[in-house]
Amino acid sequence: MFKPLSFLDLIKFKNEGRKITALTAYDCSTARYLDQEEIDIILVGDSLAMVALGYDTTHQVTMDEMLVFSKAVSRGVKRALVVGDMPFGSYQSDKKTAIENACRFIKEGGAKAVKIEGAGDYIYDLTKSLVENGVPVLSHIGFTPQYLYTLGGYNIQGKTYEQTQKMIEQAVALEDAGAFGVVLEMVPEECAQKITQEINIPTIGIGSGRFCSGQILVCDDVFGKYDSFKPKFARKYADMAGLIRACAHQYKEDVVNGKFPSEEEIFKMNEQEVQKLRDVSIKVY
Ligand code: KIV
Repeated sequence: MFKPLSFLDLIKFKNEGRKITALTAYDCSTARYLDQEEIDIILVGDSLAMVALGYDTTHQVTMDEMLVFSKAVSRGVKRALVVGDMPFGSYQSDKKTAIENACRFIKEGGAKAVKIEGAGDYIYDLTKSLVENGVPVLSHIGFTPQYLYTLGGYNIQGKTYEQTQKMIEQAVALEDAGAFGVVLEMVPEECAQKITQEINIPTIGIGSGRFCSGQILVCDDVFGKYDSFKPKFARKYADMAGLIRACAHQYKEDVVNGKFPSEEEIFKMNEQEVQKLRDVSIKVY
């Protein structure tokens, strides 16, 4: 029996120097396999907009769409902390709407926490209110895909001393606001290491080097399933795209050549019923 993890366990892992493992998942069976392998955090990432729904960026995915995936993932998980990713537009307009949407992740989506991109006074205040209202928050700074257009592209963040200083301030403010962890995306590892040392809550790196408290990747990158683009920092552990193509190819060959289904893959009538079929002609009107 698995004991479900809470954000407190993750903070403990950081203190003990045990690396935290995190992956995204978008469906029930994948989430179940990741959970059986004791991945600590399963993020229902808004990356699903691109890898599961085929949008060009993460901006288009809606709250209602995210909830369908969050429900599916939560049904497959017993141990990991399931985190719902607040999609673009679900928290930017005002705090009331943001809190309502975050609560939907917990209430309808089965998540145990939400992730929010960005920093600044509004985000700090929102994080504080969410935590006060029972919603644990995982923050996300560095390269934040929802800010793609204001960041001016897929750019590495925190490349200088001044930028690192600013990011430390952001991370400290998020910790003070009550966030239980901070995702650091696409920052140089020296910057990520310094932030990790300066705060008490764990940092979860994606493209941010070796010294974060844990690592997260998009599951489709790990499985080799999303082949439109492979980020430099992602490691591909399998070729699922190739495997799916090979399966589809072989299935098609088997159907076309009468090799599927075989004797073992069919249902048969008993001989008496078959005899009746032979003897009579059934008219269908
Ligand atoms: O949406 C996502 O997948 C993310 C990453 C941190 C993996 O935000």
